[in-house]
Formats: sequence, C-alpha cells, structure tokens
Amino acid sequence: MIYVFSGTGNTLFVAETYRKELKGFSVSIIEIEKDTEPADEDADLIGFGYPVHAFNPPHIAVSFARKLSRKKPARMFIFHTGGEGLCFNDSSSIPLRHILSQFTTLSERHYVMPYNMIFRHTDEMAGHMLWYMRRLVAIHARSLENEIQERFPLMPVRHFISLAFRIEWPYASFQGALMKADDNCTGCGRCASHCPMKAITMENDRPVFHKGCALCTRCSFHCPENAISLGLLNGWKVNGSYNLPELHENRIPAEKLPRLYRKYYRNADRMLGIL
Ligand SMILES: Cc1cc2nc3c(=O)[nH]c(=O)nc-3n(C[C@H](O)[C@H](O)[C@H](O)COP(=O)(O)O)c2cc1C
Ligand code: SF4
Ligand code: SF4
Repeated sequence: MIYVFSGTGNTLFVAETYRKELKGFSVSIIEIEKDTEPADEDADLIGFGYPVHAFNPPHIAVSFARKLSRKKPARMFIFHTGGEGLCFNDSSSIPLRHILSQFTTLSERHYVMPYNMIFRHTDEMAGHMLWYMRRLVAIHARSLENEIQERFPLMPVRHFISLAFRIEWPYASFQGALMKADDNCTGCGRCASHCPMKAITMENDRPVFHKGCALCTRCSFHCPENAISLGLLNGWKVNGSYNLPELHENRIPAEKLPRLYRKYYRNADRMLGIL
C-alpha cells in the first residue's frame, strides 16, 4: 500500500514507478487529500511519499501519519521528492518517523524531480532527473523486497534547520487570504475541483481561496490561463506541466550539471554502480 501526497504530480509519478518496480507485491496507491482515511485492509509493506516543502513534509502528510499510526504496525518505507538534493531534505521525514515510531521503517529515499517552485527546469534536465529516478527506484525496490533495513543517521544540524523552516506550516494554512485570480481567469473551475485541501470554492465563476491551503501549488501550476497569484511566493511561481510520461529521458554527466545538483548525482552514480 503506498500512501502519497502530491501537489503537482512528481511524487505521484514516483509512487507509480514503485508500483511497477515492486514486482513481488500487489501495490495499491492511495492519494492523501484533506479527508483521506487509511485503507481498511492491513498491508505487509507501506510506502509513504510526499514532496519536501521547506525541508519538511507538508502538514497534510503529518496529519495523515497520525491517522495511519492507529493502524496495525507494518514494515514501511519513505520516499520524498524535491527540486534539489540539498542534505536538509534528508531530515524532512523526522516528524513522520516519530509519529509512526511503532512501524518498522526499512529505508528512505529522496528523489530530485523537476522543480514546481522557484525556477523551471529545462526538459533536458527534467529528463535527466527521470532517468535517475527510475533506476534508483528499481534498486530500492529490490532492497525492499529483500527486507533490508538501513540505519537512519542522527542529523542534529539538519533537524534544527528543518525545525526552523516549519514556519511554513502555519503560513501555508493562512496563505489562502493572499491568493487571488487575475482578469485572465475564465472561470473554468479546474483549480477548485483539483485542490487536495478543498480550499477553493467557485463563486460567481471566480475562485475564492480559503484557509487550509497546503501550498502544494497545484492550482497555479495547472491553471490553463496562469491566472493565480501565490501571494508572498508569487515571484517563485512555476506554471505548466512538465508532461513527465512523455519526457525524453537522458543522462547528463555529473561534471556538466549545475553545481547545486552535482553532489546528489555523484551519490546516485555510486548507488547505481556507475562510479
Ligand atoms: C512551498 C514549497 C516548498 C518547497 N520546498 C522545497 C525544499 O525545501 N526542498 C526541495 O528540494 N524542494 C522544495 N520544493 C519543491 C518540491 O518539493 C518539488 O518540486 C516536488 O517534487 C513537488 O512534488 P509534487 O509534484 O508531488 O508536489 C518546494 C515546493 C513548494 C511548493
Ligand atoms: S483554473 Fe485558472 S482559469 Fe480556471 S477558474 Fe481557476 S484561476 Fe480561473
Ligand atoms: S489552494 Fe492551491 S496551493 Fe493551496 S492546497 Fe489548494 S491547490 Fe494547493
């Protein structure tokens, strides 16, 4: 059973890749939204996926983990996606591990995926990310099938940074008050019907944004008119899908990558046995 929160589709795409690669299991994927409850049936292995938001899981993932913690403990793996491979992303799972401490976490992985915030990646770079993600998921799936349990290192400095950035949780919840649609809005209603937090209603053919936003950016990312302003974060807005299933996958050698990505992909090369 894979539980996944995904704003703009990256983490869901990774969850689908796990479904294909976990060949020894029959895998169901459940998307976490505002009112999602854990499945009635118990699973042998639980996957938990989320996008890293400000070096933390989005608050909705934490709320869902609390519901999941009432279920029979099982073996678990965690995966998260981010727009870069900074080490601070690695400590993002700490609150989830704490809530789900009676579950046995076998291992955890971070996947760099095309950014939905701050800046847009080229298709070549996005294709590079997919090339690695598929291969890394495949070897992680083998490790999960063999029930290999990895050690989770203590990381006090990273944990401290994640804690400081948890200011994102209350900010996200109130961000609705700062969001608005401009005159390009055609009233199509797509933002409201796809909001995972049900934080948008349509009134007189215009979206109205309410409290309880998860800052997932799905509404503005997929708005066909690029009409939504993301409040204080609007300068970092990315609009328009990367069309992941159609992207041409390619590998860019580590030395040709932007500096921000080299360390992550050198580690990935080591894991894949390329170095
Ligand atoms: C509010 C916000 C904060 C983010 N913070 C981080 C971050 O701290 N580290 C990171 O690597 N990516 C960060 N990102 C980028 C997303 O984690 C990344 O694009 C992710 O793959 C999106 O997954 P999704 O499509 O499943 O929502 C952030 C995105 C948003 C919207
Ligand atoms: S998705 Fe965009 S165009 Fe459609 S209602 Fe929302 S803001 Fe308006
Ligand atoms: S209002 Fe937009 S950004 Fe906020 S949760 Fe809904 S879809 Fe995501």
